[in-house]
Amino acid sequence: MREEALPGGNTTGAVLIDGVVHKRASPWTATVHALLRHLEEAGFEAAPRALGFDDQGREMLTYLPGETMGARHSWPAWASADSMLTQVGRWMRQVHDLTAGFTPPPDERWFIGGAKAPGHIIGHQDASPMNAVVDGDRLVGFCDWDIAGPSAPEWDLAFSALTWVPLASPRDGAELSDHDRQERRRRLHLLLDAYGYDTDRSVFATVVPQRARRQAEVIRQMAAAGDAASLALIPVAELLEESAGDVGALSDDFWIL
Ligand SMILES: Nc1ncnc2c1ncn2[C@@H]1O[C@H](COP(=O)(O)OP(=O)(O)O)[C@@H](O)[C@H]1O
Ligand SMILES: [Mg+2]
Repeated sequence: MREEALPGGNTTGAVLIDGVVHKRASPWTATVHALLRHLEEAGFEAAPRALGFDDQGREMLTYLPGETMGARHSWPAWASADSMLTQVGRWMRQVHDLTAGFTPPPDERWFIGGAKAPGHIIGHQDASPMNAVVDGDRLVGFCDWDIAGPSAPEWDLAFSALTWVPLASPRDGAELSDHDRQERRRRLHLLLDAYGYDTDRSVFATVVPQRARRQAEVIRQMAAAGDAASLALIPVAELLEESAGDVGALSDDFWIL
């Protein structure tokens, strides 16, 4: 059967066989599939459906029809469109509302570790433009639920704020102008408005740098353990650490509407 490599992705990549996505499974994939089935049962269509495992032990998922970042180096226009950002905020709110009541299976296991506790949602944890599937100006959903796991809602929102607003430092080391900073502030609040984040937004002044540092730490730990994909991501870890510093230095009024 013909395997078609899907573009993009930082790990072993995914292939399409007869319209079905096949991807190397991990020890936590069964728990992620239970989560995807929970979303499916709730009628949520903006995530792949879990189809079990193939005879090579790879996970199988439905293919979300649309366009992805793929192997592109520059970001497409949709990655910075306001209408996409609001759809990301609404998408995340739906996921959080639907997963707040999810009961993980008894052998619960997640990439990010831990177990679902009161107050937790199950976040995608990697809902960046790299994993978005879009159709024109419509967000179809997010693929790549590998690192999904339990957290406070803010932890998941922080990663999407870093990558979509974006709050991450510019890759070329450029200084942000006042205009850029105002634009970032405007887009952060657009994301949080779309999510319906009604409590004190200044918590993100702490959570965003923590989230960026944690992501960098995981990349560095996996690289040190010899994971080739993580070794290639060391520049991303450096950017995340720089971003944590830059975001931490933003003034208080950045976070308040
Ligand atoms: N369910 C899916 N629907 C549509 N495209 C997908 C799906 N799963 C993966 N892809 C495509 O394959 C690429 C790599 O898969 P992904 O799960 O993101 O791997 P990685 O963990 O390596 O980032 C994605 O960026 C996307 O373009
Ligand atoms: Mg991916």
